[in-house]
Amino acid sequence: MIRGILFCFLITLIVAIIIDYKAPAENTITLCNTCPPGFELMENNTCKLRTLYQQYESGNGDEPGVGGLKTALPSVRDGFSPQQIDLGRYLFFDPVLSKDGSVSCATCHQPSKGFSDGLKTSVGIDNARLKRAAPSLWNVAFNKKFFWDARSTSLEAQLTGPLYSPNEMGTTRENLLQKLNGIAAYRDLFQQAFPDKRSDKIELSEIYTAMTAFESSLISLNSRYDHYAHGYTQALNAQEIEGLNIFRSFVARCAECHTPPLFTNQQVAVVGLAEPDGLPLDPGAQKTFQDATLRGAFKVPSLRNADRTAPYSHSGKFATLREMVEFYSKGRGHDVPAGEKLHIHWHIWEPNLTAYEIDRLVDFIKTLTDESFMPTKPAVLPSGSTIVKQNLQESIVSIQ
Ligand code: HEC
Ligand code: HEC
Repeated sequence: MIRGILFCFLITLIVAIIIDYKAPAENTITLCNTCPPGFELMENNTCKLRTLYQQYESGNGDEPGVGGLKTALPSVRDGFSPQQIDLGRYLFFDPVLSKDGSVSCATCHQPSKGFSDGLKTSVGIDNARLKRAAPSLWNVAFNKKFFWDARSTSLEAQLTGPLYSPNEMGTTRENLLQKLNGIAAYRDLFQQAFPDKRSDKIELSEIYTAMTAFESSLISLNSRYDHYAHGYTQALNAQEIEGLNIFRSFVARCAECHTPPLFTNQQVAVVGLAEPDGLPLDPGAQKTFQDATLRGAFKVPSLRNADRTAPYSHSGKFATLREMVEFYSKGRGHDVPAGEKLHIHWHIWEPNLTAYEIDRLVDFIKTLTDESFMPTKPAVLPSGSTIVKQNLQESIVSIQ
């Protein structure tokens, strides 16, 4: 008798588990029909970025002048629909995109860490350690080249890197399409985001467009520094203004490369960093452009939200902003490994900054923090994967 009850109980349990495991039920998610903050919804259902910087004409955007506070922005990737942006948000956070359901874009680009991951160099699928640090994704909509070595020229092309790299998300085009097309909720969401689709099959180009749309919505241009730049002189305190002046001075020369308003001139430059732990020099952009003078050159990173993205540099070798800033005052070429002859950029020289000046530079960089347009993490994922908070790393894993 008791055995019978136990048996029934066991069967019920197994059935319950099987039901729980079956493909996620019909879609209950409706994609957002309003633009993220900072964007205006146009009549053709696309979102256009609006920022005060668009009032400024100096330097005509893509060829900006050097370091003026009221300088125009470079051209931006916008014009996506609210639904595409919202679908991209689900995809960005969903580990179902990876080979084994364990890694999402947000694993290495965590919102609370400036869309970086807090690690020296990132860790992908099966705990594979990558060679470089995860850059922030804030303001990538303005970037023209992607990756530390500038090897990619569009957001769509960039994201095929992590998706199909065996060390990052490890999937394949066939696998990705098969998985997403097998999820009813996603099929419905792609219909919502691409109402003119020819077939009810999800296509790769739609996946790339939606993710690009989401990434392009990560705008950070409303920091205390920006308030100051737009004319609110009280937005910065005296020490921060001192820091700004040092930053723009021809002694420190930071603004020559970290040019406002994006705090990057989008070029590659050799600053002369050795790899940590005696590892061989990372050739950086030398490989991309097949140019020996670019050996050890990396893309100038934006400093926006840098307070959130420790550790610093392409190899994460500096734990704090202060250590990174101090590097510039330790002598031109002091870190170049023996036997390497690097063509260090002419704006890297011997500014001999005092400890006081280094502190003020750090104060200033911290005024570039603005996370007011932080997107919300999805509460439920269309794949049925669950977003969970891990102890230390706030990363996202599937417990499907
Ligand atoms: C395993 C960790 C990891 C995952 C997963 C990952 N990234 Fe990255 N991401 C990185 C690292 C590391 C780099 C820099 C690599 C390099 O420069 O060689 C990078 C670079 C980027 C860049 C270039 C930024 C710039 O300004 O140059 C973008 C954009 C980006 N990732 C978006 C994504 C998207 C979208 C996804 C999901 C499809 C994703 N990443 C998944 C670690 C990761
Ligand atoms: C010649 C161009 C150039 C100049 C001048 C320059 N930088 Fe940089 N900066 C770079 C490049 C390139 C990197 C990335 C280097 C790497 O990872 O190997 C970088 C990295 C940084 C980082 C780390 C950002 C991150 O997210 O990892 C900070 C902070 C920084 N620079 C601050 C400064 C300050 C402060 C000054 C002035 C004292 C300055 N830079 C001058 C080109 C420059």
